[in-house]
Amino acid sequence: MNSPLHDHSAPVLTIDGPSGSGKGTISRLVAARLGWNYLDSGALYRAVGVAAGWADLDLADPAALVRCTFDTEIGFREDASGELRVLVNDVDATDELRTETAGAAASAIAAIPEVRAALKDRQRAFRRMPGLVADGRDMGTVIFPDASYKVFLTASAEERAERRYKQLKDKGVSVNLDGLLREILARDARDASRAVAPLRPAEDAVRIDTTGLGIEDVVERVLALLPAR
Ligand code: C5P
Repeated sequence: MNSPLHDHSAPVLTIDGPSGSGKGTISRLVAARLGWNYLDSGALYRAVGVAAGWADLDLADPAALVRCTFDTEIGFREDASGELRVLVNDVDATDELRTETAGAAASAIAAIPEVRAALKDRQRAFRRMPGLVADGRDMGTVIFPDASYKVFLTASAEERAERRYKQLKDKGVSVNLDGLLREILARDARDASRAVAPLRPAEDAVRIDTTGLGIEDVVERVLALLPAR
């Protein structure tokens, strides 16, 4: 078996930014418009967080979490309506992955260097023709530093909390806006201050502040960075 793990010639567009900046929505839409593959790297960290929860692991025990990372199978598949489902050890964990508990566990786990190293090749394996849109925190800085196109999305913390609030409300989850804002600020601080792969824009990333912008405006701005098709 000498088939390559990934296709190095496939073009990559990285979209990094803090939680609630709209990365996920924008990345999925851009990938669909380009007909490229899509990597939701946060889902990998969330999947390990969920698996750690199922196994009742202590989030303060790095060795157990590193073992859990190696032992956790993570699969992606589209359902009949085209929605991306995430399988953790063959169990559909898509809804659980989106909870704040999974996000907080992911953020704690993501600070462990060995966990990040263990997930590197799994992320790079998504690089396949005709191209890849990779969404995360360190796509442009660590995982695909040679990407041809790099974007860093931002938005004010207040707007990000409001977006999240609306998303959860639409799903029938009752939440408190101030609590969400506090969680977002805490997660930002943890993601930006960790020693390994902290959240920061790649030097060659184009920054787009999405505060007050509609989804379609942002999609157009991102697509405008690529050669006309
Ligand atoms: O993007 P999402 O909110 O799903 O990510 C969940 C957590 O996973 C983030 O708060 C961050 O700590 C971590 N993460 C990361 N590197 C990535 C993607 C996510 O550290 N590339």
